[in-house]
Amino acid sequence: MIFGRVKPLDAILATAEKKSLKRSLGAIQLTLFGVGCIIGTGIFVLTSVGAQKAGPGLILSFVVAGAVCVVAALCYAEIASMIPVAGSAYTYSYAVQGEFLAWTVGWALLLEYAVGASAVSVGWSNYFVNTVMERSWGIDVPDWLSAGPQALGGAVGGFINLPAAVIALLMTGLLLLGTSESAKFNAILVAIKVTALTAFVILTLPVMDPANFEPFAPAGMFGGIGSGVGIVGAAATMFFAYVGFDAVSTAAEETKNPQRNVPIGLIGSLAICTIFYMLVSAGAVGAIGGAPIMGPDGVPYNAGPALSAACATAQYADALVCSPEPLAHVLQEIGYGTTGNLIGYAAFIALPSVILILLFGQTRIFFVMARDGLLPEALSKIHPKWQTPHVVTIITGLAVATAAAFFPVGALADIANAGTLYAFAMVAIAVWQLRKTDPNRPRPFRVPAIGVIASLTVFGCVFLFTNLPLEAILVLPIWTAIGVLIYLAYGRRKSHLGRGIVEVHEPEIHDIQPTIPGVDEDRASDPNANRPLT
Ligand code: ALA
Repeated sequence: MIFGRVKPLDAILATAEKKSLKRSLGAIQLTLFGVGCIIGTGIFVLTSVGAQKAGPGLILSFVVAGAVCVVAALCYAEIASMIPVAGSAYTYSYAVQGEFLAWTVGWALLLEYAVGASAVSVGWSNYFVNTVMERSWGIDVPDWLSAGPQALGGAVGGFINLPAAVIALLMTGLLLLGTSESAKFNAILVAIKVTALTAFVILTLPVMDPANFEPFAPAGMFGGIGSGVGIVGAAATMFFAYVGFDAVSTAAEETKNPQRNVPIGLIGSLAICTIFYMLVSAGAVGAIGGAPIMGPDGVPYNAGPALSAACATAQYADALVCSPEPLAHVLQEIGYGTTGNLIGYAAFIALPSVILILLFGQTRIFFVMARDGLLPEALSKIHPKWQTPHVVTIITGLAVATAAAFFPVGALADIANAGTLYAFAMVAIAVWQLRKTDPNRPRPFRVPAIGVIASLTVFGCVFLFTNLPLEAILVLPIWTAIGVLIYLAYGRRKSHLGRGIVEVHEPEIHDIQPTIPGVDEDRASDPNANRPLT
């Protein structure tokens, strides 16, 4: 029976027991932590990609994507407070839906984290090349070294995005050494991001021209299944701007009064980011306009050679939708060059921490899957000196750097979103299922009206998924099919659970930890304080 192998929840919880982290987090700390994980390439870079899909209606796209995240967040809050252990959605699914489906979830999470890390690396490269190298230092970086090939949607003349590959490898190196961000550093990065976005809003809102919002939805609300355009097509892409909020849910076991504080942290960080995203996109579009470049059929071009070619013409040289560093570009255009550069520097400084968080999540999921016997155990080897899972980290880093070198940021974000949406939907189903199969287990946080919220989450995820561009939609079934073959050829035979081994693991690796302001001093000295990202 392929669905028969379910990992006993008590064995999973026994692992968590051993960690017994101190309950020290309050609602504000959790919210700040969430904001730190969430804000990144989505708003700093994908704003131009989203405008190309939706025009000024991009503002609404953030609301649509944010709404799906809110209902998904409630489901995460319930299950994370019940099963606060490593592996996140994969582990939840293993305990509820069985090994086979859990494998598909873990396999899809590789898209979320690895491809997501590639996307953020490309976003970082855009600011590094344009703001730092070219405008600040006057060093011209040739197109062939700073963008992927045009055939894949990169800039005209692009060949390899070297800075994106290098930053991915640098972050991998830090992860390998077990680098951990200090509490203060994390808090500073949150402050830098929030200050940059606030400055952007303050400078752009006064110069908004209502004419720039006409027509509001040039590509309509729905572009059609697989079209990737229209307000919901942009929502499916801008969903990436919210990826990372699930990190808050995994801090459940370290939270005081999780019943109250976990949902506040999740919803609070999502609400703050949604407001920022709406204001920033309104400011960007209102200040310089955000009309999409239409193809001959009157539909906006998706990322690809035709859009790259149009963006290379003088007509669109200053268009928002063509800018690789939209926030800095908008401020340049309205006469705030210096502040624009500072915002570029804010992205340059803060985005690497998002890459680190995503890479960390990726290696952690890989590690847990290998530890369960579903991937070769050699992958879960711990380096004797650095105490980190070096084999998975190196493989992950090389794959992330390669994808970052050749693919454009929008396509990478869409693929990451496809995997994430699948995992979110499975988590919602798992929460609902668990209410029925294990109704009496303590739930520090209970989703109100679970049937409604879980259904809305699944519906929302399917809805956004079907509004991704067709290529990104197709990646998920192809990727899953590859995963299923690997499972049948390897994991099914080697699985510890299948072989009757249900072990309770001691936490055993010293990871970098996305840190939470105010509590890291305790965590840094606690060798058991491994906390997964999702
Ligand atoms: N939400 C994160 C970002 O936008 C992944 O970079």
